[in-house]
Formats: sequence, structure tokens, C-alpha cells
Amino acid sequence: MSSNIEAAGSDVFGIESQLSETRLFPPSPAFSGQAHIGSMEQYRTEHARSINDPEGFWGEIAKELHWFKPWDKVLEWDAPDAKWFTGGTTNLSYNCLDRQVKAGRGADTAIIWEGEPVDGANGPEVRHISYAELLEETCKCANALKSLGVAKGDIVTVYMPMVPELAIAMLACARIGAAHSVIFGGFAASAIVDRVVDAKSKVVITADGGWRRGSIVPLKDNVDAACAQTDLVEHVLVVKRTAQDITWDAKRDHWWHDAVDKASDDCPCEEMDSEDLAFVLYTSGTTGKPKGIMHTTGGYMVHTYLTSKLTFDLHSSEPGTPPKQIYWCTADIGWVTGHSYIVYGIMPNCVPTVMYEGAPNFPDSGRFWDMVERHKVTQFYTAPTAIRAFMKWGDEWPQKHDLSSLTVLGTVGEPINPEAWMWYHKMIGAESCPIVDTWWQTETGGQMITPLPGATPTKPGSCTLPFFGVDAAIVNEHGEEMPANTGGLLAIRKPWPGMLRGILGDRERFIETYWSTIRTKEGEPYYKAGDGARRDDDGYFWVMGRIDDVMNISGHRIGTMELESALVSHSAVVEAAVVGVPHEIKGTGIAAFCTLAPGVTADSALRDTLRTHVAKEIGPFAKPDMLRFTDALPKTRSGKIMRRLLKDIASGAEKTGDTTTLEDYSVLAKLKESDEG
Ligand code: PRX
Repeated sequence: MSSNIEAAGSDVFGIESQLSETRLFPPSPAFSGQAHIGSMEQYRTEHARSINDPEGFWGEIAKELHWFKPWDKVLEWDAPDAKWFTGGTTNLSYNCLDRQVKAGRGADTAIIWEGEPVDGANGPEVRHISYAELLEETCKCANALKSLGVAKGDIVTVYMPMVPELAIAMLACARIGAAHSVIFGGFAASAIVDRVVDAKSKVVITADGGWRRGSIVPLKDNVDAACAQTDLVEHVLVVKRTAQDITWDAKRDHWWHDAVDKASDDCPCEEMDSEDLAFVLYTSGTTGKPKGIMHTTGGYMVHTYLTSKLTFDLHSSEPGTPPKQIYWCTADIGWVTGHSYIVYGIMPNCVPTVMYEGAPNFPDSGRFWDMVERHKVTQFYTAPTAIRAFMKWGDEWPQKHDLSSLTVLGTVGEPINPEAWMWYHKMIGAESCPIVDTWWQTETGGQMITPLPGATPTKPGSCTLPFFGVDAAIVNEHGEEMPANTGGLLAIRKPWPGMLRGILGDRERFIETYWSTIRTKEGEPYYKAGDGARRDDDGYFWVMGRIDDVMNISGHRIGTMELESALVSHSAVVEAAVVGVPHEIKGTGIAAFCTLAPGVTADSALRDTLRTHVAKEIGPFAKPDMLRFTDALPKTRSGKIMRRLLKDIASGAEKTGDTTTLEDYSVLAKLKESDEG
């Protein structure tokens, strides 16, 4: 594993760069010649303008989209509160759908959807959904939601598989001014309860099930289990996807095909104030409770539109003609990547967006490459964890397929190790596709630091340079910029359009988490991303990973506290400590240390029980990779668990770091002897 992954989560201050990466991959003249941003000179000029005159820059971009009423002011900034395009009214659903239909693109493809099951010679189910069809379905769904009592300002919870109805549900909420809170289908019932209660959702949209690696994910059962723990939910709208038997509450549950199909297809868009809430997306933080990150309408729309256009170099075809490009992001819409780069940023660019329901290795490990070949995908966006899995599965899978349609490759979610970058470059990109390694977060709404494929020479493992309007820096805790090649905190100095506007119901946590620690010389707060990073001599950013108690497991964010709470909620466990350890495929794996209640037998059956318990409490993706039982956890004299030490032990390090503050040295010896799981 590369040095930047191993450094994830460590104290990064003062560490000299270990990186010796000198390979540089400039874009080809042919690519640059047709790109929106075709040279570094153009990048630098535009970037300088976007920083010196953000209002002029973003105002010009926003005019490329539809507004019912133009804004009075592009930006009002009273740190940490930003308001973008104030006084302006618009609608995300309008900009994704109506704008295209009105421009004569009604019959053009908006979504190419592919289901997971493969039916012998017939192959998988594929649907090409046009903007006009999508608009019609969205209007019907919007009217169905209204008839269930959903009104502007409500938050609708969406817990669905990757089916077209998921995008339709989101666009329908946006249309009528309801915010959505999409929960990843891999989360368990208790995660749904927490989020439904926090968002006060009265309506939940789900499906009977979803296909994943040939099995059914019991989504409706999970919603039922969640509803049993709260009486908030009045209506559940259910898409029939897998058609297995499910329990049904006739008063609460409604089939989508009844409620939506019979609804009117006429539903004008709500005129949304630019700063009206667009959606909430929960993400893990350092405490046990996930935070509902709030994004508003206008700024988020403009940010995701422009980043999509420039980072992937999207070019729409003339209305009514076949698409020049087919874009595919493999993320699940349950995470921010899917929100911004399957739906909201891509559709306003009028390039078809591929949506795939299932796993990358079903029915075999060539599924993604088979899809790239069949759909002639031009832009492909995935995560390092997937790339590492593909490397492990073997070169023969991509080699069986014609991948020559590809022009741009993207990666997101965690640091990419140079080995994986090179494999992606050679094996998937045939050494001719620029790779865009995009750094951003749920909180930033859209991409922040990324190459532009026609301009930026790339280096394997670096997300390169800030996007337009992004003033990023590496600083210490006093806000002083770190010299080149010295680690520090990744921080953002000025507001950007897609930035979070808060944490739902928790102003204090919003300020404390992101804005309280670091200040500029002038006393302005920096946005603290929670990542450690360094810049090299060319000003390129190298992100090392989280520096807080948040782990990045296969690109999925999860807090150590959430995991520890899940473990101690089992009666066998008295105390638990969780740390991240380097993992070949996942980037970071989960190592858990538990002390047990008196009389409980520490055996492998209990280990399995606890793993299943975590899957039930949080979701299967959160199962610990390693679980050790111990008599005591190493603590400082003031009672703090020494995670650093546990990390060393779990990673099998020869030497454990500084132990001078350890309260009881015998704990350390016992831990080292403890049985591995
Ligand atoms: O640690 C960084 C890592 O993912 C975190 C954000 O996670 P999340 O909010 O779930 O959003 C993921 C998708 C945008 C960041 O704090 N991260 C994301 N992209 C990169 C990355 N680390 C290194 N390189 C990246 N390109």
C-alpha cells in the first residue's frame, strides 16, 4: 500500500514528504484541442479570475442555467454563512428536465439504466429513458407525493435500490420544493430510524427489495423494522422491483404503480428561492450521531453543473441527434457522489447518465467492462477501492472487452495509491485517457480539487489543483500556511457555491466541526475539511486521509464512535475501541477491540455474533475486518483510549509508538498476545 494511504489518520504535522512520485502525464494535444479548458494557461487565468472576482465568475456561469427570477446579488458572505444568488428563484428539477424538453431534447436519452439480473441470452434489462419520459414520470410522482400530504419544506426519506424510480423520486421532491434525505440501501433499520426521526420525515419511499450480487436486499423489511420504532412515518411508497412476498400495512403502505401511475402528469415546478433547502444527506462525524448535511438549491446546482462540465469535459450533442458522449458514474445515489454526479450535475449538461443497479462482479468480474463496451461509455467515474478490486480479479476481465470508447477516467472517495492509478491508466485507459482524481466531500457538495482533463498534467496519487472558485490551502492549527512538502490540515479560505449551509438542527456542531479551529491572519475562519494533506513543489495537493475519528472504508465514511456504540449495544460487550488499519482492497479496514462482560466466553462464535450485530445496527459494509477480545484497553492516566497504540497493534507493527502516557503496561503485553480475528 502506498505511503499516502498508510499515513491516513496519522498525525501529519511536520512530516516531510515521503513521496518520490515524479511521473507526469500531460493530456494529449488531441484531447486538449477539443476540451472546454485546453491549457494550463487558460486554467490559471480563469482560476485567478474566479478567486479575485467570484461574483463575476459564478454569475456568468449561473446564467447558463434557468432561473425564474434572476438573483439580486451573487454572494453574501457573513462567515460561516454563505448565501449564493440571493433573491433568485430556480428549480433543480426544471434544470434537469424541463429545460431540455423545451430545447427540443424531449426524445433524447436522459438515463440509461441497467438492472443487475442477467437473463440468459436476453442479457440484462436495459432502459433508455428520455427527458420527456423522465419529466412525465417525475410530474406523476410529484403529484402522488402531494396527495400523500408532502408540501414544500418537508423532508422525504428515500431508501431505494439503484432503479430509475430513485432518480424520479429525487427530482419529484425537488419539483415540489420538498427536500429529500436519501439513505444508502446498505444501511440497516436502526440507521433509518435515526435519520427519519432527525429529519421528521412523514413519508418514506422505498422498494420491496433490490438486487445485489444475485440476492435480494430486503429494503421494505428494513423500513418496516424502522417504522416499528417510531410513529412518525404516515406513508410508505413502495416500488415493486423484486416481487418477493413482503408484509403490508394497508393504512400506511402504497404501491408506487398504483399511486404514481394514476397521478396527473401535469405538475409545474415550485419556484425555489436559491437558498431554499434542496436536500439533506447524513454523513459520519466524530461523535456517534450522523450529521444531516444541508444543501440548498441555487449554489449547489451551479457548482455541480460546472464541475460536471469541466472535470469530465462534457459536450452535449445537438438536440434530437444521437449523444456524442455517454457518462457513467458507478457510485450509489445513496452517497453524495451519486447525488451530484449521477443526477444533479450531469442532467443539466444534457449528456446521458448511466445508472447501474448491482455489483461490479455479477454475474462475473467483467460486468463493468461489459457495460462500458455495450453502452459505449465515454466518461467513467469510480472509486479507488473498486480499482484495487479489479486489479486483484485480474487483467483478463478488462482485456476481454473493447474499452476504446473511453475518453476520461475519474476517481473519488479516498486517496488512490499510485499502483492502482497506473493500472487504471494502462489497463482501462489504454494510456490515452486523462485520469481525474477528484477530492471533495459530502459537505462541499461538489468537486473541489481536481485535474481538468484537457489542461492539467497529472501525477499518480495527486488530486492536483483547486477547481475554479476554490481557494484551498495546507495550514497548521494557527492558520499558517505550511511550506511545500510539509503535512498539515486541508482547509478552504473562501466560500464556494456548493458548500454545506449547516447541519440539520445543530448550528453549534456546524460551527464547532468546520469553522472553529483555524483562522486566517485577518481573523476569518477557514473551512476545516478534516483531512491531512500536503502540497508539492508544483503546488499539487496530495491528500493523506482523515485526521479525525472518521474512517474511510472502501470510500464510505464511518465514525469510530458509531461502530463503538454499535458494539457496546450488545450485552456481551462492556467496552469497545475501533481503529482503522491499512487494507489491500478497502484502503482502510476496521479493527475492533472489545472487553467482555463477566462470564461471557470469548470464542469465534461470539466474534461472528458481534460482526452480525454491527451489520444489523449500522449495515453490512460496517462489519469489522478484525475483532479482538481483550481484558482491558490501553488508556492514558486520564482515561483516554490510546488508539494510536491499538492501530500499531492491529497493523502488526513491530514497534508500538510512544507509550509513556500508558497507565498500565501489562495491558500492552496482553493485547499483543490476544487472539486475532
Ligand atoms: O478523506 C477524504 C476522502 O473522502 C472524504 C469525504 O467523504 P464523503 O463525504 O463520504 O465524500 C466522498 C465522495 C466525495 C474526504 O474527507 N476523499 C474523497 N475524495 C478523495 C478523498 N481522499 C483522497 N483523494 C480523493 N480524491
